[in-house]
Amino acid sequence: MIAIAILAAGRGTRMKSDLPKVLHELGGRSLVERVLQSCQEIEICRRLVIVGYRGELVKQSLIEGKEIADNPQSPPLEFVEQTEQLGTGHAIQQLLPHLEGFQGDLLVLNGDVPLLRAETIKQLMAVHKQHQNSATLLTANLPNPQGYGRVFTDSQNLVQQIVEDRDCTPDQKQNHRINAGVYCFHWPDLEKILPELKADNDQKEYYLTDTVTFLNPVRAVDVEDYQEILGINDRKHLATACDILQTRVKDKWMTAGVTLLDPSSITIDDTVELQPDVVIEPQTHLRGQTAIASGSRIGPGSLIENSQIGENVTVLYSVVSDSIVAENSRVGPYAHLRGHAEIGANCRVGNFVELKNTQLGDRTNVAHLSYLGDATLGEKVNIGAGTITANYDGKNKHKTQIGDRTKTGSNSVLVAPITLGEDVTVAAGSVVTEDVPNDCLVIARSRQVVKPGWKLKEPKK
Ligand code: UD1
Ligand code: CA
Repeated sequence: MIAIAILAAGRGTRMKSDLPKVLHELGGRSLVERVLQSCQEIEICRRLVIVGYRGELVKQSLIEGKEIADNPQSPPLEFVEQTEQLGTGHAIQQLLPHLEGFQGDLLVLNGDVPLLRAETIKQLMAVHKQHQNSATLLTANLPNPQGYGRVFTDSQNLVQQIVEDRDCTPDQKQNHRINAGVYCFHWPDLEKILPELKADNDQKEYYLTDTVTFLNPVRAVDVEDYQEILGINDRKHLATACDILQTRVKDKWMTAGVTLLDPSSITIDDTVELQPDVVIEPQTHLRGQTAIASGSRIGPGSLIENSQIGENVTVLYSVVSDSIVAENSRVGPYAHLRGHAEIGANCRVGNFVELKNTQLGDRTNVAHLSYLGDATLGEKVNIGAGTITANYDGKNKHKTQIGDRTKTGSNSVLVAPITLGEDVTVAAGSVVTEDVPNDCLVIARSRQVVKPGWKLKEPKK
């Protein structure tokens, strides 16, 4: 039986932020959410999250977050309060009343170690089980170990002591083997010695790492790829983690048959799905729950967020949020789709067009300078340059309906709520305020007046 505990109570002073450190985002997910995610592949019976600094916010963010939605089969999250943050050992002491009588192992993870692979945790657990250790911890040999606790072992990988960077003698600092902040404890052993911790160190904190001197045997397991165990303490670490994550994600998609042009200028969240033969051009950013089908070409200079893009679509210098674009359609340059825009197949949405909560039937074009909001368009509609739906009366939003094959002339205003039937033609410059039946021409502008020989009166002298 395995329970997990995530340390997420610290403020993260070095982030210089109001937001608790573990809520800072990395590739579309908070750090703590990523830590929870890394435990997905092991079978656990309980999930405890220790919260403190702005604990309500951490709690709320996790409850509303994607991790729970994505893993409904995981045990529920239990939040344990650490009202004063007196160190990582003190944080784990808060579990004592909650884990009374628990006979299994406790996997402890720092909430600021977001890049761990599930595979690495499995390996740690396997060693723990195989040797029946009292504790097993993940270590790494870092070229630059600054800031990490140093792990001292004998030749059998048995841990004797962990000394925090700031408590190390110059000699001890020569040891580059560091504590990753990922531990597995046999809980009945840990439970007994937790009250023994003392705060006799530079920070005057109760260190979880001091428990290793009371436990036996404690074994260290080296991580294969030390990039995984990067702990985020400041914004520079966050940027480094972003780079590592981006490299992982891009390698994965290139291996799967996606072309990335100038990869370093592209960012892709690890929640995005791409099919083979997608081409991503420079300066393009793919975020959230986005999926792009085969043959599509996105960018240069585009942002796609929580959107579904069908096959053979092009999106050029455009922003697409919370929207759907069906196959063979062309978007951009300089289009903005948002708020559940749905573009049919073989459509064209062109220069300086904004679509909000608007559906286009197949083969419909909105090519230039338009705003369509809360509108439903049929098939083969042609929206003339500068057509606007006036969908907002200052209080409420209203719907516009446009039937198949209808054409609006340049600079038309459609004052919603309004319905234009099929095969309607709207004359250029019209302000249409009433419904128009099928097969009509509507002209809603004042007639042009031409006065022959008319001149401005000469001003009197
Ligand atoms: C810790 C380890 C260090 C290790 C490093 C790995 C200790 C004493 N040191 O140092 O050996 O190399 O992680 O990244 O454990 N937290 C609480 N309550 C507290 C204090 C911290 O929940 O009272 C949480 C923080 O929110 C954070 C985690 O514990 O998620 C680690 O705390 P942090 O202060 O970042 O520890 P480090 O100094 O990095
Ligand atoms: Ca840390």
